[in-house]
Amino acid sequence: MNNTTLTLPRPDDWHVHLRDGDVLAAVLPDTARHYARAIVMPNLKPPVTSAAAADAYRTRIRALLSDGDDFEPLMTCYLTDVTDAADLAAGTRDGIFTAAKLYPAGATTNSAAGVTDITRLDGVFETMSALGLPLLIHGEVVDRDVDVFDREAVFIERVLTPLRARHPALKIVFEHITTAEAAAYVSAADARLLAATVTPHHLMLNRGAMFEGGIRPHMYCLPIIKRETHRQALVKAVCSGDAHYFLGTDSAPHVMHTKESDCGCAGIYNAPVALAAYAEVFAAHDALPALEAFAAHNGPAFYGLPVNTRRITLTRDAHQPPPSRCVSELGDILVFDAPGTAQWRVSPAP
Ligand code: NCD
Ligand code: ZN
Repeated sequence: MNNTTLTLPRPDDWHVHLRDGDVLAAVLPDTARHYARAIVMPNLKPPVTSAAAADAYRTRIRALLSDGDDFEPLMTCYLTDVTDAADLAAGTRDGIFTAAKLYPAGATTNSAAGVTDITRLDGVFETMSALGLPLLIHGEVVDRDVDVFDREAVFIERVLTPLRARHPALKIVFEHITTAEAAAYVSAADARLLAATVTPHHLMLNRGAMFEGGIRPHMYCLPIIKRETHRQALVKAVCSGDAHYFLGTDSAPHVMHTKESDCGCAGIYNAPVALAAYAEVFAAHDALPALEAFAAHNGPAFYGLPVNTRRITLTRDAHQPPPSRCVSELGDILVFDAPGTAQWRVSPAP
């Protein structure tokens, strides 16, 4: 491995679940330590569906930050069949919303209140196009007749292509992509209008890892991890530094007993190790310099935000590994066991 150190602007996490209450208090330091900004997912119980709710949630997050923290939460609106376009527009103009999130109803954790028929939101999408407010999409069909491993690819033809044809000026992020089909589709689009986030676990694991020696509930997330050919396509896409792709961890904490159950929750908690995991993937493909575009430039360019001015250094050396569990009042949360990440140190740069 040639490259073992990289200095870059402080990264942003363009897709994270911080939760609320005791879990928020437990996980927030892990995100605030490494990222200057994060797009905070709105799938709380109940979901964050209005500007007032997002403003209150942002206040709860900020109240838990320490004085020395350099972290800004960017809030999102959870779209439903009855989203109020006027409230979304007012929340955007007031600087509360940075994006809106589309969960097809039933697609993932806390998505029951999501959208049942996307065409009902055409008026909302017109408003968003006019405002330049990005639409963040959990891109999976929920039709139980479609195999769970095919739901993302089928979403492209059934939902995403027609949506983009109806709203050609809408800015869209295809969240946490997992397939070669999604990477090919995104790469072919205008990067100002269609981009994608990619998680560390989808870059590191293939679906075999979920069943190695037994069933591994801590590797279960949605969209589900796919076969090796897809992982390789994702690695190739991000390691090019291509402007379509940016860092989004999809760090999704669940206390351990809720994952180790006969119906375990989807979601992988990776906030403490995600940056190291990305560095390990890029370095393993001799592409460490391209991590700067992926982690610090492509996201701000898409969102029309400045690149962060403070800098960090990633160094690959013998290093004390981060704790394998995050302790919350509700129970322990297991951290993603990402191969090779113990090697990487993240430190402030001058
Ligand atoms: C996320 C969660 O737990 O909120 N779970 C996951 O598997 N990624 C929801 C989501 O992003 O799909
Ligand atoms: Zn997510």
